[in-house]
Amino acid sequence: MCGIVGYSGEKQAKPILVNGLLKLEYRGYDSAGISTIEKNGISNIKVKGRVANLEEIPEINKLSGTIGIAHTRWATHGKPSTINSHPHLDNSKSFAVVHNGIIENYADLRKFLSEKGYNFLSETDTEVIPNLIHYYYTTEKKGFLESVNRACKDLVGSFAIEVISSIFPETMIVVRKDSPLVIGKGSGETYVSSDIPAILSFTKDFYLLNDLEFATIEKGNISFYDKDLKPISKEIKTMEWDASSAEKDGFDDYMLKEIFEQPRAVRETIGAHLSNNNPCEFEELNLSKKDLENISQIYIVACGTAMHAGLVAKNLLEKLCHIPTYVDIASEFRYRDPIINDKTLAIFVSQSGETADTIAALKLAKSKGAKTIAISNVIGSSITREADYFTYTHAGPEIAVASTKAYTSQVVLLSLMAIFFAEKLNSAESKIISDLKQEILSLPEKIENVIKNNNVLVKNIAKLICSERDVFFIGRGIDYTVAQEGSLKLKEISYIHSEAYASGELKHGTIALIENQVSVVSILTDEALMEKSISNIQEVITRGAKTIVVTNLELPNKKYDFIVSIPSTSPLISPILSVVPLQMLAYYVSKEKGLDVDKPRNLAKSVTVE
Ligand code: G6P
Repeated sequence: MCGIVGYSGEKQAKPILVNGLLKLEYRGYDSAGISTIEKNGISNIKVKGRVANLEEIPEINKLSGTIGIAHTRWATHGKPSTINSHPHLDNSKSFAVVHNGIIENYADLRKFLSEKGYNFLSETDTEVIPNLIHYYYTTEKKGFLESVNRACKDLVGSFAIEVISSIFPETMIVVRKDSPLVIGKGSGETYVSSDIPAILSFTKDFYLLNDLEFATIEKGNISFYDKDLKPISKEIKTMEWDASSAEKDGFDDYMLKEIFEQPRAVRETIGAHLSNNNPCEFEELNLSKKDLENISQIYIVACGTAMHAGLVAKNLLEKLCHIPTYVDIASEFRYRDPIINDKTLAIFVSQSGETADTIAALKLAKSKGAKTIAISNVIGSSITREADYFTYTHAGPEIAVASTKAYTSQVVLLSLMAIFFAEKLNSAESKIISDLKQEILSLPEKIENVIKNNNVLVKNIAKLICSERDVFFIGRGIDYTVAQEGSLKLKEISYIHSEAYASGELKHGTIALIENQVSVVSILTDEALMEKSISNIQEVITRGAKTIVVTNLELPNKKYDFIVSIPSTSPLISPILSVVPLQMLAYYVSKEKGLDVDKPRNLAKSVTVE
């Protein structure tokens, strides 16, 4: 999704802005642009395509201004093109704006401004913003901040905005509503970005704006205002991530690095809540036994991979706590009028903490009286600020669009949370809990073994299936949840059509698609379901399928094309191990096909529009 960078200080802004844009590339984009204040006014350079294309434009080397804004665009209103790229200028070229989000009432605003004589060059919703600022600046004769504030009052939708002006060449104004924006404080200089990794190499000290808070930035001086422009003070937050954790560290791609980082990510997430056989600790969730006893249903709401982590947690919460648990896709949950009351606990899972649908679903659940918990990987992200309680995964920055270490960290965190609830409620046998804790503590080492022992085999399987048209993933129970994640990973980065099916459902439709040499990946980790799962695999073998089985069980006979062996563990948490070869398979297939693993087409890391 769109990415924003801004700089104000003593240094030349251009290299800092371009560096920031390159770091934001992972979010997904189709065009890029930059504006700086130069001696003769605003310079505006933009281009369709990659940031590298921007750097090839000769004029960019002439930029010497020390204040500037920049943007990577992921098209919503108007196709990817140079003219639709940001920054957008008003007609008089006095104000330049970059914007992340969607202005829902842009058509009305465009009509209003057109009637006042303004022209529009692009098809974007964003272009109304600089013109609206100009309109209020000229008609109401107010200052820069007042004009931006006045314009924002007319905007319906979501926005993170940076504005610079040739009339006020020393000042940048930023504001956000339902779209991410962070302000990084340097010494005598200030950085702005959609997310932390883009400016982490410059500073670790950040301010986080709440909805409709404004900041004026002049080099190192930052002033904050509420929606009515009353000055407010903000607390600085220091990030624990270091810049190198957002670099590739010798790996070819971020995704591979992040797969290999899973033992550490999982270890750190466990370490924050569990040691030995002690009770799980979640100080940040100030929920008493009585609070938990009052809960009659749990919703887990999320998108994409985070939703798949929720599917694993449903099983744990129901088995350990005996509370009915429902998993919803955030974009569906919001519009299906879910039954929510004060006996509802709603858990929102989001790596970025900025997914627009997840945030909106959280607001809905809260407004209907649910207790809400946010799980995010990013300190201070929007969902953590909206929810009653929040807790973090400790995966470190995840840059590749296809999520890997965030998923395993989310599953681990949710498992620990289920144990924490069960311990408070006394709802599970102590032996089950203590065995599960021992299994969780041994996960980092087991993930290491999965990677080490299967790297070569999975690479070979990837060679075989990289030319396939369709690949099917099947499993029962907990293994079906992993099948869904494995299938998503493969399709998003290899562009091979892939479906996940509950093995028992095959006969109700999908088996019609199985013919000679179609690849079927089966996940088999629950002994209780072994026989039934094996007969499902047999059904596809009979129809000529090539079979790849990911398992921690001793299978009675070896009639499968490939067996990927993983260490055994409790079926409740087996996805943390069984997903790893599936992540590797997707990665190596994408590499075999020569694709851009970290930045798959049309996808964005953080989906900040609905
Ligand atoms: C996008 C990403 C996925 C991610 C999903 C939810 O689709 O490409 O990797 O799982 O958004 O993102 P979140 O930040 O809310 O976990």
